[in-house]
Amino acid sequence: MGTDENLNKAVAGESQAYRRYRAFADRAAREGYPNIAKLFRAVSESEAVHATNELLLMKAIKSTAENLQAAIDGETYEYTTMYPDFSVAAEKEGKKAAVKIFDETQEVEHFHAAYYKEALENVEAKKDIAARDYYVCSVCGNTVPNEAPDECPVCRAKKSSFRKVE
Ligand SMILES: [Fe+2]
Ligand SMILES: [Fe+2]
Repeated sequence: MGTDENLNKAVAGESQAYRRYRAFADRAAREGYPNIAKLFRAVSESEAVHATNELLLMKAIKSTAENLQAAIDGETYEYTTMYPDFSVAAEKEGKKAAVKIFDETQEVEHFHAAYYKEALENVEAKKDIAARDYYVCSVCGNTVPNEAPDECPVCRAKKSSFRKVE
């Protein structure tokens, strides 16, 4: 296998390890192991460094305009093709929990694509987007500008489920 392919694989693995270790840290903390939680967080940060190094080597991090276009392409693929297909397949297998996650995630990816499109239009006009707060639903990932809604329009979670992005 060539190095380009290896880099792709490495980024996927390190990114997944980063996310898994963050989640493992939260679980360790809940189970009463704060120091193991810290170890998981430390290694997760290290895996993030590895993923970033590999992304840089692949020249996958470009100008903000190019990055926004790459992000729009990724989110658009997810909400138009990937998650709808996944949902249909899960439905066929009777995997209702997966159908719910795929459908909700698809809705949120659509919002992401829209936010990024607005941002790209601004960058093309050499402008930043307006300063605003963002709130993320900790249940479904819904990403809402300005203020948290009383109820998540995607998953119906209550306002307190939203985390403000610092
Ligand atoms: Fe997304
Ligand atoms: Fe939600």
